[in-house]
Amino acid sequence: MSENQLARLDRAHASIRQRAGAPCEIAIMLGSGLGQLADAVTDATIIPYAEIDGFPVSTAPGHKGQLVLGELYGRRVVMMQGRLHLYEGWAPRDIALAVYLLKRLGSGTLVVTNAAGGLNADYQPGDVMLIEDHLNFTGVSPLVGPNDDAIGLRFPDLSRAYDPDLLKLAKLASQRASIPVRQGIYAGVLGPALETSAERRFFRASGGDAVGMSTVTEVVAAAHAALPVIGISAITNAATGGPDQQPDTIEDVFAHAAICGRKIEAILRELLPALPASKN
Ligand code: HPA
Repeated sequence: MSENQLARLDRAHASIRQRAGAPCEIAIMLGSGLGQLADAVTDATIIPYAEIDGFPVSTAPGHKGQLVLGELYGRRVVMMQGRLHLYEGWAPRDIALAVYLLKRLGSGTLVVTNAAGGLNADYQPGDVMLIEDHLNFTGVSPLVGPNDDAIGLRFPDLSRAYDPDLLKLAKLASQRASIPVRQGIYAGVLGPALETSAERRFFRASGGDAVGMSTVTEVVAAAHAALPVIGISAITNAATGGPDQQPDTIEDVFAHAAICGRKIEAILRELLPALPASKN
């Protein structure tokens, strides 16, 4: 059995505690193609993942692989610029470690962003979707293995995995920013191949509005650590699996992620000042 999560967390935290400085209130995970949001952080301290003891180093295209700590819209934030994906070969528990570290750095809210395909035929590439709930189709959980009671419960509740009060705040923030948003269900898959059209129709029939290769692992870990989550998807491509389904290209995904990134930035500008103070 590998080293327990609590010991890994302690080690990772100890390795950056001095550099991390004052506690962070809000953690933000940047999804594929959304890394430019980190440019808005002022007074930034950058910590490459490679310098965090025991931390996985992200390899996905469009992901830098560093923590960015600093000020954003009047709040002290820690951003993960560079997502860790199951398809890179990371164990689900490696991805959970990152979430626990964000909480240990002081975060009382986790904002997860991602790029996703639109299963819902009403959605257009370039739309932004607030995540109401998720379907975990990855087939794995980051909580498999011995439980660390100091981190969370053996059987954490997931009925409010995306905090309903924070979702309301996000909706209000979108209105103030004049950015129309969708609200829907995110289906998380393993990847890295995109889905077949039959799979996409199945995910849609199962209640999914968007499909992507991240987020569900982190959100399960956040629920375990009792860290409230806001989820925001950038709809980067149509993924209905219908007769007019076009082949997807990574270039197209990044082009639409950039459009969504500007919208998500405008929403966060309104949302961050409205988020509750961290109790961590
Ligand atoms: N499927 C899975 N992941 C994705 C997609 C998609 O269509 N678009 C962006 N990330």
